[in-house]
Amino acid sequence: MKINTKVEEVLNKQINAEFWSAYLYLSMSAWCQQQGLKGFANWMRVQFQEETAHALKFNDYVLTRSGNVALEPIAKVDHSWNSLLHMFEETYKHECVVTEKINHCYEVANAEKDHATVSMLQWFIDEQTEEESNVLDIIDQIKLLGEKGEGIYHLDKQLATRVFVDPTQTPAP
Ligand code: FEO
Repeated sequence: MKINTKVEEVLNKQINAEFWSAYLYLSMSAWCQQQGLKGFANWMRVQFQEETAHALKFNDYVLTRSGNVALEPIAKVDHSWNSLLHMFEETYKHECVVTEKINHCYEVANAEKDHATVSMLQWFIDEQTEEESNVLDIIDQIKLLGEKGEGIYHLDKQLATRVFVDPTQTPAP
């Protein structure tokens, strides 16, 4: 069944929001690189790839339902932060906003009795729980270790090992 117009509209907005997230993380990756934190830069770049995969999942879903994809301009993102902790706190706030947007999509799909979209969005709801939790873990570690010295050096080394695995190709976490 062709996708309903209201659902199509919110999913198109979500494509833009996911690409904006990707853009934000790429900017954060560049900032980390400039601070000499190559591991954090790698973690953020993998995050950029994940957000791109999220955007494509929405894109492809709309097409599968014979809907229109209407790509809008991607808004400007910040390019500097006061500290590593500040950047991760902003990241956490950002992921909470994304969660609210996903919840909104879910509510619209439910109101329109679009069960297929409700089912697809369940994956994103679970994914957001993991995204928020991952960021909170890093915030805790930065607070514990401080931003200078050996501790953060080891955390940077650890984050350098993160490898992109397309989350959309696996069941929800
Ligand atoms: Fe696509 Fe981090 O939410």
